[in-house]
Amino acid sequence: PLQPIVVSGMRPTGRLHLGHLHGAIANWVKLQSNHRCFYFSADWHALTTSYDRTEVIRESQREMFVDWIAAGIDPERASLFIQSQVKEHAELYLLLGMITPLGWLERCPTFKDQKEQLTDRDLNLYGFLGYPVLMTADVVLYKANAVPVGVDQIPHLELSREIVRRFNFHFGEVFPEPKPLLTEAAKVLGTDGRKMSKSYGNAIDLGESAESTTKKIMGMVTDPSRKRRQDPGNPDVCGIYDLHKVYSPPEVLEWSATGCRSAGIGCVDCKKKLLEKLAPDQERLRERRESLLARPGDLDELIRIGTGKARAEAQRTMAEVREAMKL
Ligand code: ADP
Ligand code: NA
Repeated sequence: PLQPIVVSGMRPTGRLHLGHLHGAIANWVKLQSNHRCFYFSADWHALTTSYDRTEVIRESQREMFVDWIAAGIDPERASLFIQSQVKEHAELYLLLGMITPLGWLERCPTFKDQKEQLTDRDLNLYGFLGYPVLMTADVVLYKANAVPVGVDQIPHLELSREIVRRFNFHFGEVFPEPKPLLTEAAKVLGTDGRKMSKSYGNAIDLGESAESTTKKIMGMVTDPSRKRRQDPGNPDVCGIYDLHKVYSPPEVLEWSATGCRSAGIGCVDCKKKLLEKLAPDQERLRERRESLLARPGDLDELIRIGTGKARAEAQRTMAEVREAMKL
């Protein structure tokens, strides 16, 4: 039986952290068992916000592939590739751009939200407005049936589906409509209690040493209203509790929630318990990362093979597209 095709990418803009691991990669790992997966480094997408920092792309990209594999992505089962090395992404992006109304892009929530946050320079770039079209090309090039998304990304995917419907209406049924594969992704908070993000400087990197992980966890903000050991706390606003959800078995989760609410345990006890699982897990990832980084030739070969597989699919689709469009 044919397995559904899943496509997902990540921008190579720096080291990955525990937010990426539990918010995205863990799900990619699961999908491998019953889907045909294409996972790519979205290096062209990285340009939409950092064309003047291109020196980070190549280096983060290697590390990103290493992180994925260390975390359990199996290059034998999933095709790992680099977006910019499959030029068909650009060709399809151009063609889809010809049928995408400007209003659809201007109404896109990310564009509207980021309008406030971005500098005028970023906002005025055509590439930023057009990136949902590139995202659409990225997935339909492989005739993806499903795209793993969080709730906030549903409007993007809906835009992709509209572009696909319009293409199919004008030129014939070339593309399946990619369906959202809604994933209940873990939310990972950083050491300061805000969402873990490289740009906040509050991240714990994927595969950071046990020693450094321990230091960061011990210094991490918990429920801010719990000032003293004898105050009861609220686990639902605590980043340590969120991490227990990911790392600890149900009985420890229960121990943590009950102990926190009743002030039966202190935050230090709770953090130490978390580290019993988190620290060895980080060490395991660190070792796997190191052994992968020690064999750069093997890594290049994996990417070369994955990119070759992706390119073959992409070329097949583009032949159909050109035929449908009489080009
Ligand atoms: P982008 O490439 O759009 O800048 P990010 O680097 O912010 O994306 O994140 C890539 C993926 O990792 C997304 O699926 C995002 O939801 C997930 N992710 C990033 N940080 C966190 C976090 N702190 N908690 C949960 N998921 C996260
Ligand atoms: Na981001």
